[in-house]
Amino acid sequence: MKFFIDTANLDEIKEAHELGILAGVTTNPSLVAKENVSFEERLKEIASLVPGSVSAEVISLKAEEMIEEGKELAQISPNITIKVPMTPDGLKAVKYFSEAGIKTNVTLVFSANQALLAARAGATYVSPFLGRLDDLGHDGLDLISEIAEIFAIHDLPTEIIAASIRHPLHVKEAALRGADIATIPLKVIMQLFHHPLTEQGIEKFLQDWEARVNV
Ligand code: E4P
Repeated sequence: MKFFIDTANLDEIKEAHELGILAGVTTNPSLVAKENVSFEERLKEIASLVPGSVSAEVISLKAEEMIEEGKELAQISPNITIKVPMTPDGLKAVKYFSEAGIKTNVTLVFSANQALLAARAGATYVSPFLGRLDDLGHDGLDLISEIAEIFAIHDLPTEIIAASIRHPLHVKEAALRGADIATIPLKVIMQLFHHPLTEQGIEKFLQDWEARVNV
C-alpha cells in the first residue's frame, strides 16, 4: 500500500515528502478553503514538489461543466488527477477523462456498488471514506475488503484509495484488506512512527554509549 497525504497545506506536504514515503497528494474543496490561497497556484506548487498523483476536485455538478473545469485543472501539470463526486454526472465526466487519457479519482464512495460503477466507467482511483462511515456506526474497513475482493474477482485495474483516515489502526487495516493507497492527514502519518519500545531503545543505547569505558 502506498502513502498519499490528504491536505492542501504546502508545509505539511513538504514535511511528508522529506520523509521519503510520499507517493501522492489528495485535496478537496474543504481542505483548499482552509488555505486561503489561489487553488490553481497551490496546485502548481504541489504538483511541482510531488511527482506522483495530485488530486484536484471539481466543484461543478453537471457533467459538461465538470469536464470543462477538469480540462483546465489537468493543464496545470501532467500529474494532476481530476477528482469527481460519485454521481451519474460524475461518471459521465470520468468516461470523458478516461478516453482523453486524464486520470480520475471518484470521491465520496460509500458502497461497493458505487465503487464497481466508478471502475466500469474507467476511474483510475476510487476513494471509499472510512472515517465518515465509522461515524455512522458502519464499518468503513469492511467496505475496503468488499471493494478489493470485487476488483480482484473481476480483474478491474482501478486502484483503491482508503480515505477519511482518522487513526493508525485505519492505516494498518486498510493495508491488510487490500487498499492500494491510503490518503492520510500529516498528524496520523507522524503517529505511525511512534512505538514506546523504539523510543526507550534509543534512550537506552545512548545512555549505555555515554557510560562506556573508553579503551
Ligand atoms: C479524500 O480524498 C478526502 O479528501 C478525505 O480523506 C476526507 O476526509 P474527512 O472525512 O476527514 O474529511
